Amino acid sequence: MAGNSFGKIFKLSTFGESHGVAIGGIIDGCPSGLKLNLEAIQNELDRRKPGQSKIVTQRKEPDIVEFYSGVFEGVTTGTPIGFVIKNTNQKSKDYSHIKDVYRPSHADYTYDKKYGVRDYRGGGRSSARETACRVVAGAIAKQLIHKVEIRAFTSSVGDIFVEQPYQNLDLNAIENNAIRCPDEAIAKKMISKIEAIKKEGDTIGGTITCVIKNVPAGLGEPVFDKLHAELGKAMLSINAVKGFEYGSGFCGSRMKGSAHNDKFNKDGSTQTNLSGGVQGGISNGMDIYFRVAFKPVATTLQKQETINSKGETVQMQGKGRHDPCVVPRAVPIVEAMAALVLADYFLLDKITRL
Ligand SMILES: Cc1cc2nc3c(=O)[nH]c(=O)nc-3n(C[C@H](O)[C@H](O)[C@H](O)COP(=O)(O)O)c2cc1C
Repeated sequence: MAGNSFGKIFKLSTFGESHGVAIGGIIDGCPSGLKLNLEAIQNELDRRKPGQSKIVTQRKEPDIVEFYSGVFEGVTTGTPIGFVIKNTNQKSKDYSHIKDVYRPSHADYTYDKKYGVRDYRGGGRSSARETACRVVAGAIAKQLIHKVEIRAFTSSVGDIFVEQPYQNLDLNAIENNAIRCPDEAIAKKMISKIEAIKKEGDTIGGTITCVIKNVPAGLGEPVFDKLHAELGKAMLSINAVKGFEYGSGFCGSRMKGSAHNDKFNKDGSTQTNLSGGVQGGISNGMDIYFRVAFKPVATTLQKQETINSKGETVQMQGKGRHDPCVVPRAVPIVEAMAALVLADYFLLDKITRL
């Protein structure tokens, strides 16, 4: 199956299904001599893991990462880093009702059409369980580019959103609540909203904002591999993502050039940053920032009409343990994908300059 690898030099390939024995990955291209902070890697996994609060899926997985290669006495050797996270809390019976039935807006129908064979348990390969592997690789990438600061936070849940620009928020407060929103008053409203939606057996979407600081000017590979294009691909590869908005985004399309242009200071920095830190696909040294939109989870616990593999109309009701809203758990995934892109681009930059 193609399409399971990401990156050009710092390259992650992942494997595994939601209810298989394990998930895992191979990172090829990580330079040697990087002393890994294993606790920091596990911390990132803990931020993504299921069962961490009442507003996420109640599947209980310890999500402990085991390294099988590429690390010797805590230091990367330059050889492929192989790692595994065991699945321990599968309840596959909960999924027998979708063996031959397609959940609307999930990937059951499309996987069947493409492969003709489908591991339907827990969504199989289409499950966001795979993203735990991205978080492991992203945590290593973060350590490789430790001067770069990558912070993501929940900026909306349904119609409740953070009104202030990120510059006015205390990004150190992101982890203070279960929804990962640095505005405590808004966070409370978001959590109540998810709790209410969950009681109805329904789900809700949301957005995540990501801010990247300390990227020097000059990073990016025009023309097809523009830095923001690669970030867009990275984010759109995350399950349930439906939108990516960079810098001024769609709002910018309603502005005049005179208002949109970022005026230079003498040192090359800019007085505003509607460009979002990238121009012509190359970083300009200002903060890089973007927003990612997540749809409501497809598996609701309400009755809905759908079709089966014979094309017959059937009634179905979601079972099993599901996230009522993905954004709190997706925050570390967004950060991980951003770290993978930047680590790769720092390494690419090394081979494009004498
Ligand atoms: C962190 C996270 C958790 C998710 N949890 C669930 C879930 O519990 N149930 C579900 O049906 N979909 C869940 N999804 C979304 C599905 O993985 C996704 O909708 C499915 O693979 C179809 O892909 P698409 O929505 O990108 O088209 C989750 C996504 C993320 C990022």
